[in-house]
Amino acid sequence: MPNSPTKAAVVLSIGGSIFRTGEDDVPYLERLADLMRRLGRRRPLAITVGGGRTAREYIGIGRELGLTEIELDEIGIDVTRLHARLLAGRIGPPTPSHPPTTLAEAVLELRHGSPVVLGGTEPGHTTDGVAALLAVRLRAERFVNATNVDALYDHDPKVDPQAHPIRRISWPKFRELVRERSGGQAGQQFLFDRLGADQLARVRTPTAIVFGRDLPNLEKALLGRPFLGTEIY
Ligand code: UTP
Repeated sequence: MPNSPTKAAVVLSIGGSIFRTGEDDVPYLERLADLMRRLGRRRPLAITVGGGRTAREYIGIGRELGLTEIELDEIGIDVTRLHARLLAGRIGPPTPSHPPTTLAEAVLELRHGSPVVLGGTEPGHTTDGVAALLAVRLRAERFVNATNVDALYDHDPKVDPQAHPIRRISWPKFRELVRERSGGQAGQQFLFDRLGADQLARVRTPTAIVFGRDLPNLEKALLGRPFLGTEIY
């Protein structure tokens, strides 16, 4: 059934680092697909999936072999699409099992059915960036970044045990933080994609950062209800 054009879209970026951890991946992906199917029926839902550890492994081998940064990015994109296929296939029709390869294609697919799952699009950014561009293009009501930490912290919590979670932050302040902390090489882990942060900050899309393996909490964030994590406004 085509989506109602009156309902605003929601965009979700799922980090590769939680998509496949090596622990309970199959039951997690089954429950994630059920949730996506259920929420995607109510309103247009676009989901990007990252490449995580698998992408970094392949990019690492490619780098040792002397591949160019663009070639390494393309390897990363292929891994994100592999992940997108897994989720899309489990969700089932009308979700296309072959992930859209451009933003325009994803927007078009979303007119025919929801949810739509995709990986990367072109070299030079990450799936967070793709999701952010999609959110801007769809004039999304909300953007949710499902990642492997339960909130944005003032310092890296894996390095500094004294790090404090930041529960609410404005877009201009958040953008500064991303600029301070991000680099730009293939396979690099960003706090949040820089391009994505720049785009979302321009339109100030309400954004949530949540731990992606906590599905009840992820559902609350997607529905715009109070959730545990970080709110960017
Ligand atoms: P990810 O989106 O997975 O980036 O893309 P990430 O920073 O490793 O995030 P997590 O760990 O999954 O959350 C993996 C790599 O694929 C390339 C980049 O090299 C990126 O680092 N890529 C991805 C692109 O070049 N373009 C895209 O649109 C997407």
